[in-house]
Amino acid sequence: MAARESCCAGCYSFLFEYDTPRIVLIKSRKVGVMNRLVQLAILAYVIGWVFVWEKGYQETDSVVSSVTTKVKGVAMTNTSELGLRIWDVADYVIPPQGENAVFIMTNLIVTLNQTQSYCPELPDKTTRCQSDENCMKGYVGTHSNGVQTGKCVPYKATVKTCEVFAWCPVEDDTRVPKQPFLKEAENFTLLLKNNIWYPKFNFTKRNILPTINSTYLKTCIYDPKTDPFCPIFRLRQIVEAAGQNFQEMAVQGGVMAVQIKWNCDLDKSASLCVPRYSFRRIDNKDSVHTVAPGYNFRFAKYYKDASGGDFRTLIKAYGIRFDIMVFGTAGKFDIIPTMINIGSGLALFGVATVLCDVIVLYFMKKRYYYREKKYKYVEDYELGGNETYGSQS
Ligand SMILES: *[C@@H]1O[C@H](CO)[C@@H](O)[C@H](O)[C@H]1NC(C)=O
Repeated sequence: MAARESCCAGCYSFLFEYDTPRIVLIKSRKVGVMNRLVQLAILAYVIGWVFVWEKGYQETDSVVSSVTTKVKGVAMTNTSELGLRIWDVADYVIPPQGENAVFIMTNLIVTLNQTQSYCPELPDKTTRCQSDENCMKGYVGTHSNGVQTGKCVPYKATVKTCEVFAWCPVEDDTRVPKQPFLKEAENFTLLLKNNIWYPKFNFTKRNILPTINSTYLKTCIYDPKTDPFCPIFRLRQIVEAAGQNFQEMAVQGGVMAVQIKWNCDLDKSASLCVPRYSFRRIDNKDSVHTVAPGYNFRFAKYYKDASGGDFRTLIKAYGIRFDIMVFGTAGKFDIIPTMINIGSGLALFGVATVLCDVIVLYFMKKRYYYREKKYKYVEDYELGGNETYGSQS
């Protein structure tokens, strides 16, 4: 019978009773002021930082972009090896078109008229020899220019080296010119054409702004103060804006980043969405660690002589690669992020209560008194004896 009674009591209370937490009001100036201060800080964070500064009411999208480049400029050189020569875009931009990057040759080591034949190797520790005994037929090292034939032949009057089967004469790249070969490269210009697209907002724009006309475009040069939207850059300016010296960098080559930043607030006028350019050197160049500096690679141009034999001109090209990087986010008002941020802002107010509770109940002098008031203490049923469940006692 007792079991059924208690079951009924359970049903009864489930249906016909309502419980609600009791709220304790502490009349303390200290705690009251503290609570309001914490709430104020949270309000300032939500409104000031989340909404005004970080634009929490906006949906954001990141940029999709394409870049094309065009270099202009000519250089003239006059050396004993090559004679008087003009270098134009087709000579110094390698390859002629690239993906978001353009390489401009500034220095080079040319080896003319190489043919496949036999010649002495460059002298170094492993290739110097006194007689044929020092050379090994068929030997190829990592730094070899060809396959050794096993003969020891004179390289210069006093130096003998092992003979190799290779593209001869072999390239001597031990003496990199101290001065860049194409000094005039500092005055070459680079035109960047950049189209961007924010797919979520279906917003497109290009870095040649609608306000720029073709006469301006023919004459302008980018300058951060006077012409910040001109898309034509002098190479020296790019390098110097990154705190480097062009002529120094041109000797061994390097890699520069041209960063285009498109941060757009699409709640405002589209004309305020403009590119910002910045430059930095991204190959690592520090004054302490100077092993294997710069940037270079080799390529060759092949020809046939009258009798049909191959010969080639080998070029070891040093130069500066300009990598064009496009960044950006656009934001536009949207109801969903707004609601999410309002919701999480309101939830943060709970932090004020928790914080004040902790301080009141654990750190204040009168904490025992407050605890007494906040909690209703109940003894364990087994030990306490006569406290019974509910109001039915
Ligand atoms: C680049 O142009 C400037 C100004 O026109 C000139 O003074 C300078 O000599 C040029 N640089 C080279 C290497 O020719």
